[in-house]
Amino acid sequence: MVCAVTPTRRRRSLREPRRTTSPIQGEVKQDSAAQAGQDLRRYGMKASDSATAKVTMLHSAILNVMIKAAHRAGRTLKRDLGEVEHLQVSLKGPRNFVTAADRRAEETVREELAKARPDYGFLGEEGGAHAGADKTHRFIVDPLDGTTNFLHGIPHFAVSIGLERAGAIVAGVVYNPANDELFVAERGKGAFLNDRRIRVAARQKLAEAVVACGLPHYGRGSDLAVARNEIAAAQQHFAGLRRYGAATLDLAWVACGRLDAYWERDLSPWDLAAGSLLVREAGGFISDIDGKSDIFAKGEVVAGNDTMHRELLRLLQEAGKKTETAVGAR
Ligand code: IPD
Ligand code: CA
Ligand code: CA
Repeated sequence: MVCAVTPTRRRRSLREPRRTTSPIQGEVKQDSAAQAGQDLRRYGMKASDSATAKVTMLHSAILNVMIKAAHRAGRTLKRDLGEVEHLQVSLKGPRNFVTAADRRAEETVREELAKARPDYGFLGEEGGAHAGADKTHRFIVDPLDGTTNFLHGIPHFAVSIGLERAGAIVAGVVYNPANDELFVAERGKGAFLNDRRIRVAARQKLAEAVVACGLPHYGRGSDLAVARNEIAAAQQHFAGLRRYGAATLDLAWVACGRLDAYWERDLSPWDLAAGSLLVREAGGFISDIDGKSDIFAKGEVVAGNDTMHRELLRLLQEAGKKTETAVGAR
């Protein structure tokens, strides 16, 4: 799958002006290549040092620790996925096995992070919150995002690790071990996919955009009416609507321009922490459905470039009003 940053066909001179105005994704690649050129110079390298303009990233020590933890847990999950595929055909099914794999992955992440930062707090989906002596820092971890996919042997899931400092997310890692895609970001340093700089898509026309969403889970009836109106509104305006089943990867895919936008309700901090930083550092916009920047308060997210974010917000808010009116009229 091609992301927003790929090698350009011909090597551009670093003096060549950047093209930022065209809405088509090909132009985003040029923009990103220019950005990659800037990065190369920042790190004292010439374009000829890298035929593909791949940036040798200088990660902070803590990001390297987070990457190591995600890789370790991811390796085990990838092995477990093989077992899940076998268990599909057994009567018992893979559910218990997956629950154990999920917990094991969180233990692995926690152990690896604690080796380097024993004082930091930890919030994990499986084990809950553990306060640390250091009250300023906390890791926020989803050891296996996309459990339903994993359970069905669908290779679309991720280990997600965010680092919060004084209430703000400052580093994030989202790793899909099935295809070895590693998304990382640090505040103020940009976002990267396998060490290549990524940017949100520049597309401006809703009719050309592909957008992902979440769906209410089985049994949560109260959300259904609003979800139906939101989905209907999105289907009327966007080229394609997708439901992939791993919130952290939805955010990562917005960050790298595969998706033009994404929205979902009822998410938890571990679904949002790392991915939200990826979107911001890739030049995207992110808020809750009311447009407020604290996405953790209500666990809602709307993400995309400036235009897609604004337009999607408008559509979702209209859909919300329509639902309220319909409920009020009953
Ligand atoms: C879920 C996935 C899914 C989203 C759910 C999440 P899990 O996380 O991110 O895409 O729709 O709301 O809870 O349970 O697979 O870690
Ligand atoms: Ca999750
Ligand atoms: Ca999970």
